This record gives sequence, structure tokens and C-alpha cells, in this order.
Amino acid sequence: MYDKLMKCLAGVKAKIDFKPKAALILGSGLGDYADEIHVDQTIDYTEIEGFPVSTVKGHKGRFVFGYVGETPVVIMQGRVHYYEGYQMSDVVLPTRLMGLLGAEKLILTNAAGGINQSYKPGDFMMITDHIATGVPSPLIGPNMDEIGPRFPDMSEVYSRRMQDVIRTCAKKCDIDLKEGVYVQFTGPAYETPDEVRLARIWGGDAVGMSTACEAVAARHMGLEVCGISCITNMAAGISKVQLDHKEVQETADRVAKSFKALVTEVVTNI
Ligand code: HPA
Repeated sequence: MYDKLMKCLAGVKAKIDFKPKAALILGSGLGDYADEIHVDQTIDYTEIEGFPVSTVKGHKGRFVFGYVGETPVVIMQGRVHYYEGYQMSDVVLPTRLMGLLGAEKLILTNAAGGINQSYKPGDFMMITDHIATGVPSPLIGPNMDEIGPRFPDMSEVYSRRMQDVIRTCAKKCDIDLKEGVYVQFTGPAYETPDEVRLARIWGGDAVGMSTACEAVAARHMGLEVCGISCITNMAAGISKVQLDHKEVQETADRVAKSFKALVTEVVTNI
């Protein structure tokens, strides 16, 4: 794995000399955020030998290097999901790569189903912690001692400092920010009502199919991490209507403008 990572890193470094301060992973609805920043260069995932490539419709697969205000960033436009069939270590390879390129901070975004009854579709939830029990750990396998310890501490995956920054930014953007625990399941099927009930008993506020694994890999290598979910729908059983990817996409698109404003504010103040 380490050799594969180093090979991808060398592939990217051969194409660009850029040291990002922050890394950003874009979820549904934020896909075109990268088109709005000052772009320096883009690298399609397919251009990087050995790199896992996303297949989901609407997910562009590339790294965008550029500036949000004065802040140099690398953006993953289109993430890799476990449900696509990759090993978990491949799912987090791009996250690790962004860390190795020099990013010290990671901002995660996603679309999620709300399981906290006080949420409504279109809300934003700052992730205060996660439960990744429903997916294999990305750290399974021989440890890469070069990038992090065998048994990394996970007592503050989502940086309290960054959470404070996000709260302030949300106020400034006039956003009624929710806060809660994100539960990752594998997908690709949406959860059953009883899986959602279980997630609620566990202490979750939202469910999704990404993010926690990336946060774990990033913390393993010492990055400072934060995350924001866009609640695109109420999860199965919470809502009486059947779930549909179209609803997820529509809600994400409807609030994309405020999501982008919030992310810009966060990146520039991080
Ligand atoms: N469940 C899992 N993932 C999701 C959901 C959901 O309800 N909505 C958006 N992503």
C-alpha cells in the first residue's frame, strides 16, 4: 500500500509543484464548487497511475489545485466510495495523497440522511464525531509506520478548534447550523428503517456512505479534520416516503449556494 501511495504521489508531483494548505472533499451538490475558485491546475484521477477512479454519475473525478481567497487548496472533485467495490485502503488513498502533498487540514463534506427528528432536508450539520462501526477500518492491514502509528488516538477526530471556526462562519453566513454525530454505513442501498433506528440508538444524528473512513485515515496521519453534512433527506423510517437519489440530488442542488458560501468562509478562516 505504501509503495502504491508513493507511486501515486510521484505521479502527481511530476505534474504539479503546489503545496496546499487545506484539502477539501466535495460531496453531492458541491461538485461544481471547484469551478468557482481560482484554479491553478487540475489533474484527472485517470491521469494518475494506480489511482482508484469513481464511477458514480455526477461525480467528476479529479484533483483541483487552486486558491480560495489566499488559501492554497487541493480539492477532490468526486470522491471514491467503498460501495463502488474498492478496498477501504483505496477509498482513502486520495485523502492520504492530499496529506502527503502537504495539506495540514482536511475539510470533509457530504450528503446525508437526517435521523435526528429536529432536522429537516436542506439543513447543514457540523460533524462533531462519527460512528464508523458499520464499515471496515481503512487502517486494517500492515500499518504504514511512515505516515502514522498502529493504534492512533481518535478522541478528537473533528477538531474542536475547527468546530469553533465553523460555528462562527455559519453565523456570519446566517446559517442555522445543526451539530451532530455522523454514522457511516456501506451503502449503496439506503438503510432500512431498523438500521436507521439502530443508528439513532447508537447516538447518531445523520447517516451516510462516506466521510468517516476518510476522517480516520486523515487523523491517522495527523491532519486536522472537520466535516459538514448537507441533510438532503430524512433517513428511511424517519420519513414515510421512499428514498430516491433524485431527492438527494435536488435538495443538494437547492442549498448548494449556501453550502458553497459556508465552505468558502470556512476555508478562508481555517
Ligand atoms: N442514507 C445514506 N446515505 C445518504 C442518505 C441516506 O438517507 N442521503 C444522502 N446520502
